[in-house]
Amino acid sequence: MTTDWGAEAARRLTRLAACSEPGPGVTRLPFTPEHRAALDLLTGWMQQAGLVPSLDDAGTLVGRLEGPEGAGTFYLGSHQDSVREGGAYDGIMGVVLPILALEKLRQEGVTLPFAVEVLAFADEEGVRFPTALIGSRALAGTFDPAVLDMTDADGIPLRAALTGFGLDPDRIPELQRPRQAALGYLEAHIEQGPVLEAEGEALGAVTAICGIERHQITVTGETGHAGTLPMQGRRDALVGAAALVTEVNRLARATPELRGTVGALTVQPNVVNAVPREVRMTAEFRAPQDATREAAGAALHRFAATLAERHRLTIDIARSYAQPAQPCDPALSDSLRAAIRAGGGSGRALPSGATHDASAMADLCPIAMLFLRCRDGISHNPREYAAPADLGRGVAVLAALLTRL
Ligand code: HGY
Ligand code: MN
Ligand code: MN
Repeated sequence: MTTDWGAEAARRLTRLAACSEPGPGVTRLPFTPEHRAALDLLTGWMQQAGLVPSLDDAGTLVGRLEGPEGAGTFYLGSHQDSVREGGAYDGIMGVVLPILALEKLRQEGVTLPFAVEVLAFADEEGVRFPTALIGSRALAGTFDPAVLDMTDADGIPLRAALTGFGLDPDRIPELQRPRQAALGYLEAHIEQGPVLEAEGEALGAVTAICGIERHQITVTGETGHAGTLPMQGRRDALVGAAALVTEVNRLARATPELRGTVGALTVQPNVVNAVPREVRMTAEFRAPQDATREAAGAALHRFAATLAERHRLTIDIARSYAQPAQPCDPALSDSLRAAIRAGGGSGRALPSGATHDASAMADLCPIAMLFLRCRDGISHNPREYAAPADLGRGVAVLAALLTRL
C-alpha cells in the first residue's frame, strides 16, 4: 500500500491548525494550551515514524532516530508557533514533512548512517515575547539568559512561562549540541513570497536568509481636550508617530532590497476627543546585506531626534533585536538542489525575506532550506496555503536528501 504523503501531510496540518486560539486563522503562541495540544499530536506522529520524542527545557519537541555508535546527528525541523491570525503552514509544515519523510524511509526499509533529530521549536516568531529563536539558539549555544526576564503583554516573564509549562529555564544552557557531531540542519518552509509560484516551481533552495532588526519606540507628548486645545502648540504624540511611520516607509522605498515595516502601534489614552499623549510602536528593517539594514536603523534614530525637537515631543527609540543575514551552506544546498532536480524540479535558488530558525542553527552546523511554493505568496495570513501535491514533493525530496548525505 503506497501512502499519499502529500494528502497525509495536509491532513496533519489541518489537525494542527485546530490547535489555535479562537478567531481567524491560526494563533498558536509558545507555552500555551494551544502549544501543548500541538505537541501531543506531534509526539504521536514522531513515535509512529520510529522517533523517540522528548521535550527539552526550551520547549523544543525533539524526535530522535538513533544512528550507529559514534555517528553524528543530522537535524531537521522548524517552529511550531504562529503569528496572531496566521496560517496553517508557516513553521509547523517544516516539522510535519520531515516526520513523514522518516516514516517513508522506515516503510522502505532504509536505514541511515547517522542519527536524525526532528525539531519542533517553541518560539521563532517572537510574537508573545520581544525575542525569538529561543529553542534553536539553545541548541546552537547562543541563547542569552537575559531574555528570560522579558515579559509578554500580560506581564508574564518568559522564565515564568517556561516553568509554567513544566520546564526548567536554568537548564537551557545544557541543551547546546556538540558541534563536531552536528552534521547539518535542513528546514523546509513555505516561501512566503510569490517567486516559485510565478515560475511554476513547486520547490526551491534558499541561498541566504535576510538580516533583521527591530526598534521599540515610545513617543510622548501631552494630552488635552480635542475641542478646546488650539492646534498651534499641541504636543500630539500620534502626529509624531505618523511622521515616523512615513519615514520608515520612505527609507525602505528609497533603498534597494530594504524592507521597512511598522507592525505594532498603540495609542494612549486612545479616545476620540483627547489629544494622544503616548504612542508605543515598533519599527523593523530587513535586508540581505547587514550594512543596508544598519544604515536604515541609524537614519531612523537621527530622524527621531530631529522630529522630537521640532514637535517638542519625547521620543525614546532603542534597537531591541538584531539578527545578521545568514548565507546557507553551499555544499548542503547543492545536495538539496540535486535532490530537487532528481524529483523533477529545476533546483531554483532564491533568498529568503523571512527569517527562520535556520539562521540560529547556522551557529551550530551547516544549514540549508527547502522552500515550497505557497498560493499567491501569502503568509502570516489565514489564507496561507500549500497544495498537498507540493507537500508530497517536499516529503519526497527530504527523504531523498537524507539518503544522499
Ligand atoms: O518575521 C519573520 O520573518 C518570521 O516569520 N518570524
Ligand atoms: Mn512567520
Ligand atoms: Mn516561519
